[in-house]
Amino acid sequence: MELSDVIRRRRMVRNYTDEPVAAAAVGAALEHAVRAPSAGFSQGWAFLLLDTPGDVGRFWSVTTPDEGSAGTRWLAGMRRAPVVIVALSCKNAYLERYAEPDKGWTDRDEARWPAPYWDIDTGMAALLVLLTAVDEGLGACFFGVPPQRIDAFRDGFGIPADHHPVGAITMGHPAPGAVTGSARTRPRRPTADVVHRGRW
Ligand SMILES: Cc1cc2nc3c(=O)[nH]c(=O)nc-3n(C[C@H](O)[C@H](O)[C@H](O)COP(=O)(O)O)c2cc1C
Repeated sequence: MELSDVIRRRRMVRNYTDEPVAAAAVGAALEHAVRAPSAGFSQGWAFLLLDTPGDVGRFWSVTTPDEGSAGTRWLAGMRRAPVVIVALSCKNAYLERYAEPDKGWTDRDEARWPAPYWDIDTGMAALLVLLTAVDEGLGACFFGVPPQRIDAFRDGFGIPADHHPVGAITMGHPAPGAVTGSARTRPRRPTADVVHRGRW
């Protein structure tokens, strides 16, 4: 598929069939993820791949309220996704990388960072997963792990203390009515509104 088609077709898919996903498609998504750019080539990211019903079920049970609880309707279709990939960032990898001689920030002072590049780079990698899903004829959705559930998620999957879940990605075959959410009710901001040529 042409890159422009992949980009235009990518939408967050929140409803899936129960058809399994080819392992090769998941593999391609993860291979592409590690092609993302990263500050200083720190590559301070990690991906928790959950691709068995048991692991996927455990993800939902530790990160969301019970099915049927208030505010969980949108999760019904999400729970059917056969694959969940949690994208994690590691700030320490950046502080260590930038303390190396060619960078020289040996004080590891976080005030030096104009933005949390560890989360940004992991987000860029996550976008490559989303785009690869489209290229593989699949759907995917990026969403957050609620802050109050992060400890349970860590315990449930043995996540190291210096890794932070930036977001999770469901992946699977889109079911009818797969695209819902804010993009159905809010217009896309026109390019002319967001691009400021020369000066603001
Ligand atoms: C950082 C981030 C967090 C998001 N969190 C959620 C979420 O928790 N639940 C959800 O349904 N969608 C989530 N989304 C998806 C957005 O709602 C979606 O990207 C937006 O409405 C535009 O729709 P589109 O991606 O289909 O074009 C998230 C997207 C991003 C980039």
